[in-house]
Parts: sequence; structure tokens; C-alpha cells
Amino acid sequence: MIKKKFYVTTPIYYPNDIPHVGHAYTTIVADVLARWNRLKGNDVFFLTGTDDHGKKIAETAKDKGKKPKEFVDGLIPVFKENWKSLNIDYDKFIRTTDKDHEKVVQEMLQKSFDNGDIYKGNYEGLYCVGCEAYYTEKDLEDGRCPIHKKPVELIKEESYFFKLSKYQDKLLKLYGKNPNFILPKSKKNEIVNRVKEGLRDLSISRTSFDWGVPLPFDKKHVCYVWFDALFNYYSGGKKYWPANVHLIGKDILWFHSVYWPAFLMSVGLDLPKTVFAHGWWTFDKEKISKSRGKVLSVKELISIAGVDSARYFLCRATPFGDDGDFSEKALIERHNNELANKLGNLVSRVSGLIEKFGIEKTPNKFIKKLNEKKIEKLFENYEFDKVLNEIFAFIDDCNEYVQSKKIWETKDKKALYELKESILKIAELLQAFIPESAEKITKQFSAKNIKKGEILFKKIEIDEKINKNEKPEGIMTMSEVTFGDWEKLDLRVAQIKKVEDIEGADKLYKVELDVGKEIGKRIICAGLKEYYSKEDLKGKKIIYFSNLAPRKMRGIESQGMLLAASTEGHKKVVLIAPEKDIELGSRVG
Ligand code: ME8
Ligand code: MG
Repeated sequence: MIKKKFYVTTPIYYPNDIPHVGHAYTTIVADVLARWNRLKGNDVFFLTGTDDHGKKIAETAKDKGKKPKEFVDGLIPVFKENWKSLNIDYDKFIRTTDKDHEKVVQEMLQKSFDNGDIYKGNYEGLYCVGCEAYYTEKDLEDGRCPIHKKPVELIKEESYFFKLSKYQDKLLKLYGKNPNFILPKSKKNEIVNRVKEGLRDLSISRTSFDWGVPLPFDKKHVCYVWFDALFNYYSGGKKYWPANVHLIGKDILWFHSVYWPAFLMSVGLDLPKTVFAHGWWTFDKEKISKSRGKVLSVKELISIAGVDSARYFLCRATPFGDDGDFSEKALIERHNNELANKLGNLVSRVSGLIEKFGIEKTPNKFIKKLNEKKIEKLFENYEFDKVLNEIFAFIDDCNEYVQSKKIWETKDKKALYELKESILKIAELLQAFIPESAEKITKQFSAKNIKKGEILFKKIEIDEKINKNEKPEGIMTMSEVTFGDWEKLDLRVAQIKKVEDIEGADKLYKVELDVGKEIGKRIICAGLKEYYSKEDLKGKKIIYFSNLAPRKMRGIESQGMLLAASTEGHKKVVLIAPEKDIELGSRVG
């Protein structure tokens, strides 16, 4: 069988600073797509890298007192380490300063020139260095770049032009014939309308600085960064060209959906299948900006709740294509409520039950609740949040199955087998999103002897981490109550069967409890003698802490405690009693 080719790219980022959560986002999603396609058995090529040339880099380097090459060389290892720490498994990291890339750019320039698409002229225009792009008066806001809000520069220079105007109709035809060329659809119309308004020829060379690829037909000029940069997708993955999808942010959609296909048409190369422009992340509702202290480095991102939770959050929190707001709190909430409480809980409960009771092979009817076809379809539509929703709905089903089958009582080995198989499937489906945890789960549940392992996702106390000051001392938050130590306590309904005095003890009784079928009989020492007679206690139903470590008291091993309240200023102790007809052994909580 011939493997289907799948070629995915990220933008090549400007190495003028270390990457932040926005750069991490595109790169993580590309990794998710690459991993998913590898899992499907496709022949995957995943390209990322850096955009080393251009005036912006040259100026930043100069500010730091460095040569451009020296400056960018210093940042590349940071990018690579950051991607590694996020478990980004790319196939190639391209830099536009790579010699073979520069050679391709020159070949392409020559080709386009020979085809009559490049001519010499004079350029006068308003240039934003931040964008590496020219603006017209009407694009500006108060004379400033609409994106960087900085004044633009009036630049006048001899320049080579690319005949972009010639491609207007061809581009419109392309968008019409290939409804998936620009995704999401909501962003496509904007581009189509702008192209319909007409396209001006594009200045593609500069003489005012020299940090770039020289034009092969006029060495005084260096190539415009976007011509240089866009061709990375071809030079970095020639064998796989055309790309299946270029993942980008909406900030650079114009370059990718207008310039790029026009350049490709000009040199006679195939066009990518899809350009997907995702939305923009803000950070605590503000623009991500270093000057305002609103940046989150990759290191900081990972430190919040671990790599997998960061990856999970970014894919789950907002539909791919929409804008989103990043906050530490929102990430921790998803980590606690979804990864720890749903997935982590399922894995730990089922592995614990299997360790105790074992499994017995049976046809897995339960797994039919999972709609894999639907998940595949959602993946094809880049609806990653919905993919995760679907998987987590199945995780809910699994947790409910344990509950409704009362496996801890019934010791249903067949149900445990079904759950084991289901968990392995869940791990497979989640592998693309949370590779580290998915691998741990797969290992744990494919072992001959399945054991309850370490906790996968440790719960994080939001309020302690984030709003320390807003919470009065002694007050717990819902998340602490639901997910903190409370949950670890195993409280059960029990009945007092026998009460005896303990020699020499004037406060303690020795109490025998019936804690239902699963737990059985237990002996505890309870300090109730001052408040209850033996007759009063006999037959009473009470709440029992069943999973406390035993403690020796007066030579008797006490296996836990009862739940009681103290009243009258700690002078009196009153037992807390459940409704009469509650089954013994029922869990409280
Ligand atoms: O534009 N939200 O590089 P760049 C979402 N070198 N995504 C964000 C983001 C945010 N707040 N901030 C950055 C360039 N990104 C060119 C690309 S490609 C041939 C050349 C992501 O370093 C998003 O993918 O400015 C965006 O498109 C990209 O980083 C811009 O990276
Ligand atoms: Mg940018």
C-alpha cells in the first residue's frame, strides 16, 4: 500500500527574540497534526524554522551590538530547546540563512525574472519595519502602522517589482475553485474582497540594507524578506512539495494567500492545498507584548501545569481559527477538571481495580460508545477542540461505567477488560495532544500485570497559586474540596455491631463495625464513653473513615475513625448519623 503524503508547516518565526505562547501555539498544533497523521500511517513531513533575514533582524542585532548572523545564531538554540521541551517532533528545522535555501531563492528569483514577472522601477512608500511591509495612506491609523502602532518610514529607492497585478484573476479563480485553499471560511471572504479591489505590483528588493539574499541578476539589491521567507516551504521540503497545509496566524494570511500562490504560479510550482489562519491569543485579555510585561515564554508556559496540560489547553480552549484568551487560571482549571479529574481519575481507578481483581477477555461492546469516524472527520476539519470534547465524553462514559457496574463490589473482570481496552484506545487518540501522558498510559495498560501507577496529573491549587490574597484563611475553594485531600478520604456508611469497654481506659470504647460487603468488619477505638452508653451505640449507623492507616491504642489496633461533631464548646461529642435505610458500605462524598 502506498502511504499518503502529509506535509505540514509552521511559519518560520523571526529570531529577534525568544518564542512565546503565540509561537508555541502554531507549533503545537502542527505537531498535533503531524503526530495524528503518523498514527494514521501517513508519510509525514513537518517543517518549522526561522526567518533570519530582513531589516527588522538587522536593526535588532545592531541595537545589541552584534552582527546579524551572530545575533540570530544565538537565538536558534533557544528555539530548538523550546520546541524540544514542548515535545515538538518536527522533521526539519529550516533557517533562511541555510545555503541551500538561499540557492533556491536565487533560482526562483531568476525563474520569475526570466518569465517576465520581475522588472526594475522606483519605489516610494510608507514602510513599517515591524511588519516588513509597505502601507498606503489609507491603511494607516493616525499615520501609524495599524499593527505596531508605530510611525511608518517614507522610503524611496530603486527597486525590482513583482507583477502581482497580473495574478489578480488567477488568484480569484484559485479561491473559487478550491474552497479549502483559505481556511477558515470566515477569513477567506476578507481576502477575496481585497483581491477583487485590485492588486498593485510588489516591490521585492531593497538597496537600503544588505542583510538578505542578493538578487542573482543585480547584486546591489537584496531580496525582500517575504519572497525569501515564503520559499522556505519549498526549499525545506522539496520531496514533499506541495504542502498539505500551512498553519499560520491571521496576521500573515495576506502574504500566504496572495503573494505566495502568485510567486508559485510565476515559477511554475504546484500550490499548497490549504493555508489555515488561526486566531490571535491575548494574555489576560491584553495584547501579548513584551513592553507591557504581557508575554509568556515557553518555559513559563510549561511551568504552570506541565507540557501536556499546556498542549491540551491550547488545543482545547478555543476553536482553531478563533481568537482566544490565555490565562494561567484557565489552564489550571482545565488541568484539574479535565486531565486530573476525568482522565487521571479513570486511569487510577481502573488500574487499581485491575490490580486487585484482574481482567477477563470478552468482546468489547462498551467501546461502541466511542465514535472514531466522527473524530477523524473533526480532525480533517481542524476542529481540535471538538476532537477533545468527543474523547472526553467517552472518558466520562468510562467513569460512569465503573460507577454503574459497582466494580469494586462486583469485581467484574469482564467490565475491567472492556475498560482496559477503552483506556488504551483513549491513549491512542490522545497521543497527538498529550504524547507524554498517553505513552505512560499505554505502557501501564499494555503490561502483563497492570498496576496502579503514579498519579498522572497532580491537581494544582489555583487559589494558592493565583489569588492568594482573595481567599480568607481557612476557607477552601470548590476545587480544593472536590479535588484536594478530601477526595482521597474514603468515607463509608457503617453500623455499630458490638461495643466493649477497654481495660483501664475511661474514655475509649472498642467498637466493632460492619462496613458492608466490600470492606466487611472493622474494629476501632472511639472516644465516646463519656457521651454514649454501650446500649445507645449498638445498632447505630454512622460515617466511618475507612482508609486511614491503623493505629495502636491501648494494645488494640484501631482501624480508622468515626465522624462526629463536638458541641457545647467542645464539651460534648455527637455522632453524625446517616439516614436509616442507607446500604452499609455506601460511599460518602
Ligand atoms: O510573521 N496569537 O514571524 P513572527 C497567536 N517571519 N499566534 C501568534 C501570536 C499570538 N498572539 N503571536 C505570534 C513572521 N503568533 C514571519 C513569518 S512565514 C513564511 C514568515 C504566531 O515571528 C502565529 O503563527 O512574527 C503568527 O503567524 C506567527 O507567530 C508570527 O511569527
Ligand atoms: Mg509578527
